[in-house]
Amino acid sequence: MQLTLTRPDDWHLHLRDGAALTTTVPDTARTFNRAIVMPNLRPPVATVDAAIEYRQRILAALPNGMTFDPLMTLYLTPDSSPTIIREAASSEHVYGVKLYPQGATTNSDAGIASLDGMLPTLEAMAETGFPLLVHGEVTDHSIDIFDREAVFLDRTLDPLMQRLPDLRVILEHITTKESVDFVKANPDMGATITVHHLMYERNDMLASGIRPHLYCLPILKRRLHRDALIEAATSGTSQFFLGTDSAPHAISDKESDCGCAGCYTAPIALELYAEVFEAQGKLDRLETFASFNGADFYGLPRNTETVTLTKTEASIPIMRPFGDTEVRLLRGGETVAWSLS
Ligand code: NCD
Ligand code: ZN
Repeated sequence: MQLTLTRPDDWHLHLRDGAALTTTVPDTARTFNRAIVMPNLRPPVATVDAAIEYRQRILAALPNGMTFDPLMTLYLTPDSSPTIIREAASSEHVYGVKLYPQGATTNSDAGIASLDGMLPTLEAMAETGFPLLVHGEVTDHSIDIFDREAVFLDRTLDPLMQRLPDLRVILEHITTKESVDFVKANPDMGATITVHHLMYERNDMLASGIRPHLYCLPILKRRLHRDALIEAATSGTSQFFLGTDSAPHAISDKESDCGCAGCYTAPIALELYAEVFEAQGKLDRLETFASFNGADFYGLPRNTETVTLTKTEASIPIMRPFGDTEVRLLRGGETVAWSLS
């Protein structure tokens, strides 16, 4: 059995920097034509010049013969001015601004503690139609980690969208039924869905031993949320699109007393999404989710070339090189039912 689809794009990706790029860039470019590249480096990518320099480092790591178009983003910091937004909006390489609530996730300490002072900047985004990509979790220590996404919708995102109805918002890596419902209730917004949130629920991470390679943020939730995500991703609804949130960390940073959040999925993401869609009897919707909805939302042309998936079991490597160390793949050492030719 074969499935040919328009070449997909990844609308949420962490490529990291330096020597890691020689692994992460080809691992994504093998499958995806474009990717929205996250700016959470140290220091954060907060200016157009920094984004363009980072883009050049990414392209320098692209092997001859491969094609890949990195779509850059800026990190929203308290110093992000309306002028920076206007410059980004008119740049041909920058496609959005990423909001990290301060302390919410990996390399988010430069993020935003309170949106109060950011209104002029956010107004400039609403005026220019420049997308705000949102990590949707509160960081309040009194809020249980499994509730942080749902509380963020009520406390932060809903008031923001009421205040700035023209703001173009993408809620990234949604993990809850509440987020699915929120997105559907706001038809102008978009949302990305990772493959690991479609494949796993929190029991997989915690019930038969603790699985550090399934630890990501927002954290895996209970079964009913996974079911809602599967329904949304396979529904064909144009607001939901593929974003792997592939987020590699050195193995020693994952298997640690205080392990980092993030799953490395890019090398096998499309094959895994195909498994999820097939299990729902919805393989015919994979192309809409993976190749059309994101491009349409960002107002970019759909890709013209195709890729072909074949129903042949393939083994997933356990490790990939990662600078001077290694990164472990999600489901490494196991098999996947589809292969990309
Ligand atoms: C991401 C990372 O490692 O950069 N980690 C993750 O668990 N998803 C950051 C993020 O997207 O939250
Ligand atoms: Zn991410």
